[in-house]
Amino acid sequence: MKHFLNLADLTPQELRDLLELAIELKEEWKRGGNRPLLAGKTLGMIFQKPSLRTRVSFEMAMIHLGGQALYLSPFEIQLGKRESVADVARVLSRYVDIIMARVFAHSDVVVLARHSRVPVINGLSDYNHPCQGLADLLTIIENKGKDLHGQRLAFVGDGNNVATSLLFGTTKLGMDFAIAGPPGYELPPDVWELGRRFAAESGSRLLATHDPIEAVAEADVIYTDVWASMGQEEEAEQRAQVFGPYQVNADLIAQARPDTIVMHCLPAHRGQEITDEVADGPHSVLWDQAENRMHAQKAILVDLLT
Ligand code: CP
Ligand code: NVA
Repeated sequence: MKHFLNLADLTPQELRDLLELAIELKEEWKRGGNRPLLAGKTLGMIFQKPSLRTRVSFEMAMIHLGGQALYLSPFEIQLGKRESVADVARVLSRYVDIIMARVFAHSDVVVLARHSRVPVINGLSDYNHPCQGLADLLTIIENKGKDLHGQRLAFVGDGNNVATSLLFGTTKLGMDFAIAGPPGYELPPDVWELGRRFAAESGSRLLATHDPIEAVAEADVIYTDVWASMGQEEEAEQRAQVFGPYQVNADLIAQARPDTIVMHCLPAHRGQEITDEVADGPHSVLWDQAENRMHAQKAILVDLLT
């Protein structure tokens, strides 16, 4: 049974194939609509956390491809509380053709996959966000071309789930990855260990620093995300103090290449990790990036279901 839980699980060729498929499906949709490749198929979507992009882009992806999606709110399933994660997988996978889950603990999406009769897609966990990572690579390729060797993505902020998937995605494709954040908020050692291994295979160069200017120097892509992720709300105030120097603002992007693009997975806390001037400015690709979630996920769905 094939699942989509972590970009680290894909070979570089599998990742490139998914991106090619996403490009094809996007072009097809722009020409007037997708073929009903998923006619009669259903997607069950389990959410333990809120969502705009993931929920709507998956639902629209299924509709465009001739299938249907079912939204299951945090209250409805109460994953692991009302019944065990394994039992949810056993039952839900008898009804639907594919499952997408947004969870707190990454182990929950792994357990879902282990006990499911149908493919499981990780729609974000506290560990990673592979759908976001795939869509972001699509956006980077659209702006910077397919050969990403020697190009640099600089992530400024928390060493979080989104940064983790970007490290895996960039190093699978040979793109350089730099990250700058405050001491104590670095990417976890096991994540770096994998990133270093992929980088050695692809030729990516890696940099981890506490200096945002060092990270964005010569950057082709600057990326940021919220300072406090979902589930860290009680830390938000304290994090806002620590992360202040890591704001992506006009002064910081002036340190990067003149044609740098600025990315953010959204939702953004404008005035914190990104200023209005940058989010709405000429370097921003935020809205194409959000749209690409839908195209990238169509590729994941078609790959797993056909
Ligand atoms: N970027 C992202 O996953 O957005 P949502 O939380 O709105 O789904
Ligand atoms: N790091 C953020 C990403 C939201 C899409 C979070 O986990 O809340």
